[in-house]
Amino acid sequence: MTGAAAGQRVAIFGATSGIAIATARRLADQRARIVLIGRDREATEALTGDLRVRGAAAVQSLEADFTQVETLQDIVARAWGVFSGLDVALIAYGSLPDQQQVDADATLLASAICLNFTSPAFVAQHLAARFEAAGSGTIAVITSVAGDRGRKSNYLYGAAKGGLQRFLQGLRHRLHAAGVQVLDIRPGFVRTRMTAHLAQTGPLWATPDHVAADIVRAVARRRAVLYTPGFWRIIMAIVRALPRPIFHRTSL
Ligand SMILES: NC(=O)c1ccc[n+]([C@@H]2O[C@H](COP(=O)([O-])OP(=O)(O)OC[C@H]3O[C@@H](n4cnc5c(N)ncnc54)[C@H](OP(=O)(O)O)[C@@H]3O)[C@@H](O)[C@H]2O)c1
Repeated sequence: MTGAAAGQRVAIFGATSGIAIATARRLADQRARIVLIGRDREATEALTGDLRVRGAAAVQSLEADFTQVETLQDIVARAWGVFSGLDVALIAYGSLPDQQQVDADATLLASAICLNFTSPAFVAQHLAARFEAAGSGTIAVITSVAGDRGRKSNYLYGAAKGGLQRFLQGLRHRLHAAGVQVLDIRPGFVRTRMTAHLAQTGPLWATPDHVAADIVRAVARRRAVLYTPGFWRIIMAIVRALPRPIFHRTSL
């Protein structure tokens, strides 16, 4: 999207996420046309005004509850229709459930799997048919480094994100012939509302704007998998390679 983003039609599902807001602001700077989709009408409308002031060529917002999977096909159709097609779709929503709470509450477990796997997979699938028919475009989805290896402190979240990574891998294979980019975005620790209960300090923590810059660049370069910040590619290669007996002695 760098430089060439003027006028590009971008839909952001989960537009009020910290990472999504930072990405939308960078796109507004580049005069993109943006559709914001989120459940909080007041917040998406406030963001609409902010992006217009920053230079977006056009901004519209749509309301959606992403846990209502039977509504997602219609939401995708409406997002697609705002500017008569899309060049880029970013799926950004998610939740970071507490593993001990989901261990004790099956309803919470099911809703976390829905929000972090089922729902974004459905949205990507509905988008895929449209981008495939158009013969171009980008489906970018935020997963997580947590999807790279299951660990005791958050294996429900990690499993949902890992499942989503594998879904995107298959979707990328399918859409390759149509020339559609499928980007799997794997952030490490990012200072947003999602991690506000943590200390958010230290060299491993990144700002949403750093991650947003990496996302915009990875879309422009038609990358398949983005670790952001980039050092997470090395960290996760080590984490994945750790022999199980050693891994089991860690408290990760
Ligand atoms: N922060 C990190 O360290 C980190 C690391 C790796 C991956 N990620 C991933 O990055 C993505 C963005 O997260 P973030 O850090 O930017 O978090 P965030 O600021 O907390 O944003 C979470 C987003 O999900 C939306 N959401 C949650 N439940 C929803 C529901 N039932 N229906 C509709 N929307 C719902 C929130 O909407 P509301 O504004 O209405 O609450 C918000 O837009 C997520 O997929 C997350 O898993 C984050």
